[in-house]
Amino acid sequence: MKTEIIKVDTAVQDWDKQLDYAAQVLSSGGLVAFPTETVYGLGANALDQTAVEGIYRAKGRPSDNPLIVHIANTDSVKELTDSIPFVTTVLMEAFWPGPLTLVMPKSEKVPDIITAGLDTVAIRMPSHPIAAALIKKSGVPVAAPSANSSGRPSPTLVKHVIEDLKGKVDVIIDGGISNVGVESTVLDITVTPPMILRPGGVTLEQLRSVLGAVCWDPESVDMYTGTSSDASLAPPRSPGMKYKHYSPNAALLLLQGDPERVAAEISKRAELYHREGTSIGILNTDETASFYEPSLHTYCKIISLGSRENPETLASNLFRCLRDFDEKAVEMIMAEAPDENGIGQAVMNRLLKAAGGNIIKL
Ligand code: TXA
Ligand code: MG
Repeated sequence: MKTEIIKVDTAVQDWDKQLDYAAQVLSSGGLVAFPTETVYGLGANALDQTAVEGIYRAKGRPSDNPLIVHIANTDSVKELTDSIPFVTTVLMEAFWPGPLTLVMPKSEKVPDIITAGLDTVAIRMPSHPIAAALIKKSGVPVAAPSANSSGRPSPTLVKHVIEDLKGKVDVIIDGGISNVGVESTVLDITVTPPMILRPGGVTLEQLRSVLGAVCWDPESVDMYTGTSSDASLAPPRSPGMKYKHYSPNAALLLLQGDPERVAAEISKRAELYHREGTSIGILNTDETASFYEPSLHTYCKIISLGSRENPETLASNLFRCLRDFDEKAVEMIMAEAPDENGIGQAVMNRLLKAAGGNIIKL
């Protein structure tokens, strides 16, 4: 398949005209990758079963993993759901457009292929101007998972999308960097209190400040990362959580604890693994960079994830850093665990999954 790559510049006048062709491709059943504020998405008309089948094919995605439906207007919620849970309005006002996905009872109109047979549908209204304008122009609700091959780190730059999907989709829109860097928070509002199924761009603290009680149980999520011996305890509420995810080609080991001790442990292991002939990557932070001996740089690829004092930077850089290690053909990455508050929770969740639950607590 020939993939058209279209660069969109929102600084020029009438920039949204640059989206006319892509919008037409979407409404006529084609596949379009586009930037959102979280990560790039791979879109298709959510009401067109054949178009949505194309998404699963292009990504190599398991068919029991449901998709998020993206809308440009809060009114579209009405056609996608039968009954609107009472917390919906307050959440939409507080966080839409933005990185929050709401799981609600689905209407007849939503094809089973979107929900993988569940009786709920996940809906989000993205804030990225290109995403919003594209959805509006296409005139249809847009199903869009992250625009990566299934299992790979999500794309935050157009070059990641091109790496994974060129030749498999009709259009890729180049709209610069996806700033949030981790996917939306998935919140189940069919239960009381609402429950976070995937931590993401909107934090637990933000949700609690608006809703009061919100359930978040990292343990139930960790069950599907390989840290629990009994993954059969309960079916995953968000089917996507059970799959190996976000994985760079390299093996990843996560180390958690006092930052200075963690750096010492990583340094010790780096030397050891290096002597065994393994090429090593280290994912540290601006604040911990000085804990690593300059000599390590001669045989390790060391990348800073960002600043611990500004955890938004950790989220923003995460997936790009994981792909950067792959570019350097690193075989084993050792990563410092971030503090688990605010958006750090989402960063930790993605790192744990990328590590397949492989964590050492010091
Ligand atoms: O930020 C994002 O959400 C990005 C951008 C492109 O919008 N999209 C994204 O989609 O991350 P995807 O497909 O990679 O992740 C969707 C997640 C999966 O974990 C899936 O299981 C869950 O949402 N999900 C979708 N529908 C659901 C439903 N009805 N009930 C529970 N979980 C659902
Ligand atoms: Mg994804």
